[in-house]
Amino acid sequence: MSSRIQALIKSLNAPQRFWWHHMFHADYVPPVYSFMTNDEWDTLAAWYHDSHANNYHGGCQVPFLSFIQALVMGSGITSVVQLGHYAGYSTLMTGFMLRHLGAKHALYTIDIDKRMCDFTRKWVEHARLGDVVKVVCSDSAAPELPTLAKAYLGRAPELLIIDSSHIYEHTVRELDSWYPAMRPGGFMLCHDSSEFARQFDATGQGGVLRALDEWRGKHPEVSSINVVNGAALHLRTEVYKDSCGACLMQVPVPLSPDAPLKVKVPAQKPAEAGMAKG
Ligand SMILES: C[S@@+](CC[C@H](N)C(=O)[O-])C[C@H]1O[C@@H](n2cnc3c(N)ncnc32)[C@H](O)[C@@H]1O
Repeated sequence: MSSRIQALIKSLNAPQRFWWHHMFHADYVPPVYSFMTNDEWDTLAAWYHDSHANNYHGGCQVPFLSFIQALVMGSGITSVVQLGHYAGYSTLMTGFMLRHLGAKHALYTIDIDKRMCDFTRKWVEHARLGDVVKVVCSDSAAPELPTLAKAYLGRAPELLIIDSSHIYEHTVRELDSWYPAMRPGGFMLCHDSSEFARQFDATGQGGVLRALDEWRGKHPEVSSINVVNGAALHLRTEVYKDSCGACLMQVPVPLSPDAPLKVKVPAQKPAEAGMAKG
């Protein structure tokens, strides 16, 4: 494992925050950290200490962040909306990814808890991500937000990350409210979509999994995969190493010839075209 993350884990003495690393005992840096500069590492380590001192221990872990990295850094996605940032772990990490892509005004992140917004905003400034990330304090299902987010990003979101209330009814409202604002072909990524995570719904109505099952049933045009895992913590035997699960959905792209792809594909030189055919 890299000396940076090893030093961080030792200096905090908080194994519950690093369960993913302890589970593997593997001597490697997961790719979610491998691109970071020394400055970004310093910021992340200082953020860990500050959030630890404040008892802010929630937040996603390597498996879910790996989905985000695959989409953002693998496809050059530069307009992202996040619903629920808590103390800002995934906000900072996604902000770092977007900065490496050279993006500005690229992440619009919303949380209903003012303490979490103040804390996250402080760390976004500390990380010098102020021109990349906007922190907004609001209910993430508020109907005016998609328009405000588009205005900040300068275009429709290509990636929506949902990790907020975990309440069935609220999650349905989030999906209904944000789906029409998405760019065709864009992605909606939900955390806590597993059987195990049903219990996070404080109203006891079935949580994110029920919301997704019903919402996806009403939207067969959206292709999706939900990593459901089991109903209990069985990470030693389960293949996907986050019992909270993850659901990835793709907004459809119009296939008619009247609506051609907006992406510009550079013309291939004849030699390259020949090589591609093998
Ligand atoms: C699990 S945490 C998010 C963790 C974060 N994505 C991360 O990886 O660090 C859930 C957050 O959703 C926020 N939340 C709960 N209900 C909300 C709502 N109705 N609107 C917006 N945010 C909400 C909570 O305040 C909390 O900070």
